[in-house]
Amino acid sequence: MKSCELILALDLESRTEAVALLSNIGTDLKWIKIGLQMFTSHGPDWVKQVADMGYQIFLDLKLHDIPNTVAKAVQSLSHLPIGMLTLHSSGGAEMLAAANKVRLELKPDLLLLGVTVLTSMNKAQLNRIGVSASPKDQVYNLAGAVAESGVPGIVCSAKELETLGPDFGAQLKFVTPGIRPAGASADDQKRIVTPAQAATLGSNFIVVGRPIYKAASPAEAVQSIRKDLQ
Ligand code: C5P
Repeated sequence: MKSCELILALDLESRTEAVALLSNIGTDLKWIKIGLQMFTSHGPDWVKQVADMGYQIFLDLKLHDIPNTVAKAVQSLSHLPIGMLTLHSSGGAEMLAAANKVRLELKPDLLLLGVTVLTSMNKAQLNRIGVSASPKDQVYNLAGAVAESGVPGIVCSAKELETLGPDFGAQLKFVTPGIRPAGASADDQKRIVTPAQAATLGSNFIVVGRPIYKAASPAEAVQSIRKDLQ
């Protein structure tokens, strides 16, 4: 089995709360995901602060706009100390290619990731927005567009990896949110798997938020998830 790394989704309100959590969590964690909640409140300075604490940063902004606008946003963000960045692959082939061109020119090591179908969506919700494919088929379609564009990874549920692995595993990194340890609350997530299942199915990285930062002991939650991944 290939190695699978844990990313903590730091979806908190205040910097003080987030710094306190990070100082209690131990030294085993390498990756922190900063998403829309903290980036919209605290901006690029917060990204630099967390990077200065020694973490690798996954900036999850899920960019989705016309190709020129997304390319310019990737250009602006390339000055930040980030290792991963997301864009919505439903923005289309041209948008993905424009973003990837900027990555290759300015920050070739950046793991740019095409978000496929959100793990909070199921078939009924996809149908409601006019997509008749199942989540699994739609993720497969979008993974194909991402692979063609040269963008090096995707975000999907680990549930979809059985079909994606054989066709795209050599080319794409798989980052999978929607992770819940056995018995944990699903919250708003629909397509969930356990950390151990995600690792077995071939995730390169799992993203976990609430099961860690809402745990009575976040440090113990991290230890237990990392044990599951081995
Ligand atoms: O708290 P929880 O573990 O559900 O957090 C999952 C994180 O992964 C959130 O920050 C969410 O924005 C992100 N995410 C997701 N589904 C995707 C892409 C990102 O849940 N398809």
